[in-house]
Amino acid sequence: MARGAFGRSDAEIDLLVRGMRSGIAVVGFGYIGTVIGAVLADRGWPVVGIDVRDSVVDDINSGRTNVPEPGLGELVANGVRAGRLRATADYGVIAENDFIIVTVGTPLGPDYEPIVDDIKAAARAVAQHLREGHLVILKSTVPPDTTEKIFLPILEETSGLRAGVDFGLAFCPERLAEGQAIREFLSIPIVIGAVDERSARACATLWRHALGLESIVVEDPRTAEMVKLADNLWIDLNIAMANELAKVCDRLGMDVLQVIGAANSMPKGSHNVNILSPSMGVGGYCLTKDPWFVNHLGETLGLDLQVPRTSRTVNDTMPGYTYGLLTQLLADQGKTIEDSKIAVLGIAFKNNTGDCRLTPTKYVVSLLEESGCQLCVHDPWVPEDEAHTVTSVPLSPDIESAVKDADALVVLAGHREFHQTPLVRLADLAADRCVFLDGRNSFDPAAARAAGFVYKGIGR
Ligand SMILES: NC(=O)c1ccc[n+]([C@@H]2O[C@H](COP(=O)([O-])OP(=O)(O)OC[C@H]3O[C@@H](n4cnc5c(N)ncnc54)[C@H](O)[C@@H]3O)[C@@H](O)[C@H]2O)c1
Repeated sequence: MARGAFGRSDAEIDLLVRGMRSGIAVVGFGYIGTVIGAVLADRGWPVVGIDVRDSVVDDINSGRTNVPEPGLGELVANGVRAGRLRATADYGVIAENDFIIVTVGTPLGPDYEPIVDDIKAAARAVAQHLREGHLVILKSTVPPDTTEKIFLPILEETSGLRAGVDFGLAFCPERLAEGQAIREFLSIPIVIGAVDERSARACATLWRHALGLESIVVEDPRTAEMVKLADNLWIDLNIAMANELAKVCDRLGMDVLQVIGAANSMPKGSHNVNILSPSMGVGGYCLTKDPWFVNHLGETLGLDLQVPRTSRTVNDTMPGYTYGLLTQLLADQGKTIEDSKIAVLGIAFKNNTGDCRLTPTKYVVSLLEESGCQLCVHDPWVPEDEAHTVTSVPLSPDIESAVKDADALVVLAGHREFHQTPLVRLADLAADRCVFLDGRNSFDPAAARAAGFVYKGIGR
């Protein structure tokens, strides 16, 4: 049995990690856990995923994953085939590993508050097998103080060991995004907030050798916890601004992407202005909840924060706004939604992923279903069972059957596959004066118009 990474000299940890003479247990083998585990296994580490869902454990041990992330299935299959990746529901395996990474979910509660029950359960289960020398890294997105005031006391009380003395403990936010998760996990700088300096050093050594990444070590876990929330609040607010600029540009008949492209050339501080892109909505597991974590934090501190509520509220208007654009575009062609055939292309929450968690496309699709239109839905990334969470309409097997005789094409996720069929071919298949509503601004307006479509983007 390994002696553990924590509490050794820097040189010993360096040797242990460099030679990969240690294992990594990843607790919570969902979207993030599977990406982390599969990448580390691909880089030569023995990895065991621990999950309470039997289906996840069975899938992984058969070399499969249903996490819809590009390239992940291959990494999982290779890792399992090479004997470096496996999964279990038995926390007992923790004793055989030096590093424990916790990536369980932290959903939003009914009052827009963070639910950290899975963090508590994972802490209790990990603690039963904790021993001297372990380094525990929490990666779930949590409100400040969760690591030290919730996670740490459970670990210590259950195990009888002390953090920073007997075992190491750090919080490292996970900042990757779906769709490019593997690349981002291997490139985004790591932030470490540890309970003591030795935990921080052991953690930085792991990431340096495991991923080739240097770490930014901040004061303590609570600072690192706040870093993640700050990142996602910035993204959500920035997109909200882009979305409101798009609404203004729609009224003024301008192209918002030209405005943003030129605006972003201005240097400000140490970087340029960096306005992100407008779209038909913001979804997914993180941006829809992390600003609410900040809002809830403000409430607990007696602060009436405006920014998180504003970003969430603005972005939540976009599906309804998109549906309004469609109604208007059809009316301009002398058509009504209820008498039209509408082809929705893409229902995942973002381009080039099959992830439908909290997808804004669901609201547009629901409005279309209620409208009485003839609805076709096509998404090559989304499996049929996942599609049921968004629509009751069975998915069309290919883009051509979805688009045939359509009065409107509504792109809600701009998957790369949609660009493989020539626009002129789609226009031939569609009805006359077919509307092309590009909810992700992923097509060239001039090309779509040249093909014969009545094109409209969000803000262009
Ligand atoms: N999805 C993203 O893109 C993303 C990005 C950055 C950070 N995060 C954060 O990472 C965390 C995980 O997100 P996710 O998308 O992987 O969630 P997920 O729901 O896909 O995965 C969580 C997994 O944990 C398992 N689990 C729950 N309780 C457990 C327990 N006690 N022991 C073992 N396993 C348990 C669940 O069965 C599930 O498989 C969240 O805090 C999230 O906010 C997510």
